[in-house]
Amino acid sequence: MTDNGESEVVAKMAQKAFASSSNYENVRANYSFEAVEFFLRKLGVNWDNHDKAAENQTDRPFIILEVGCGTGKFTRVMLEVLKDKNVRVIASEPLQSMCEQLKLMVPDTEIIQCPAENIPLPDASVDVVIAAQSFHWFTNRAALKEFHRVLTPRGSFGMVWVLLDDTAAIWLKEIKNFLRILDENYNLVFPFMQEWRKVFSDLSQGLFSYPEECIDFKYSRTSSFDHAFKMLSSYSPVAGGSEKDKKDFHDLFNDVTKRHFKDQGIPLETIPFKFYMYWCTKKN
Ligand SMILES: C[S@@+](CC[C@H](N)C(=O)[O-])C[C@H]1O[C@@H](n2cnc3c(N)ncnc32)[C@H](O)[C@@H]1O
Repeated sequence: MTDNGESEVVAKMAQKAFASSSNYENVRANYSFEAVEFFLRKLGVNWDNHDKAAENQTDRPFIILEVGCGTGKFTRVMLEVLKDKNVRVIASEPLQSMCEQLKLMVPDTEIIQCPAENIPLPDASVDVVIAAQSFHWFTNRAALKEFHRVLTPRGSFGMVWVLLDDTAAIWLKEIKNFLRILDENYNLVFPFMQEWRKVFSDLSQGLFSYPEECIDFKYSRTSSFDHAFKMLSSYSPVAGGSEKDKKDFHDLFNDVTKRHFKDQGIPLETIPFKFYMYWCTKKN
């Protein structure tokens, strides 16, 4: 866990890992419409009647700020769910290369370049803040304080990840165990880790309620040996890690796919994923 809200906000490893925005866009998992729709409703994005905006006594649209939106993988599905609704989406991302790709992918969307720890928006100006596949990069008090500051009094903060479902495929367990060690080495915190509890008991104290969760939505992505290797090695601790980590991952991937697929003449056709969704509300 980092608490680097003062100067260098975007971790060096993130800058290295996300240097190739087009690779990220091509190989990473996508979000399903159903999961995103469910998540937005849990966050109080009520498009049937605009209760939240009414509570805020304004006639402005409901406003969602997405932080760390990368190439807009989540943003695009969210925009599809919210099509023709009176909801304004502001996408934000600190890295220049990601912002450029984002502009290509969601040309009509409002984009601001900023880290989660320093958001150039007024106090109490957004109804929901969302971090999709990104909160592990800014699991720090500075970011949580910023979300609290920009949110309206009854605003919500949501986190979502699409992660490998190692309960659905044994070979993924071995891969996930390896990635988990790297995550821990780099102090990245995910909801399935012990440290997660501390984030919402210590770090967010006085700012947010303890999050509710849903991990019921699943998704399967068509794959191949080549795609699986590219996708798995695009994970930040590998892509942004040392040469040794990259080589160890390469060796592990070859060994695992040889034992589970190639030696048995089985093709690798899909990769199972699970959505990890969390939502909490601002404390006043
Ligand atoms: C794994 S990508 C997720 C992108 C996108 N939201 C998605 O769902 O595919 C993580 C993103 O977090 C961004 N990030 C890293 N550090 C950040 C920070 N301190 N504040 C905001 N975003 C950050 C990275 O630049 C990257 O685009």
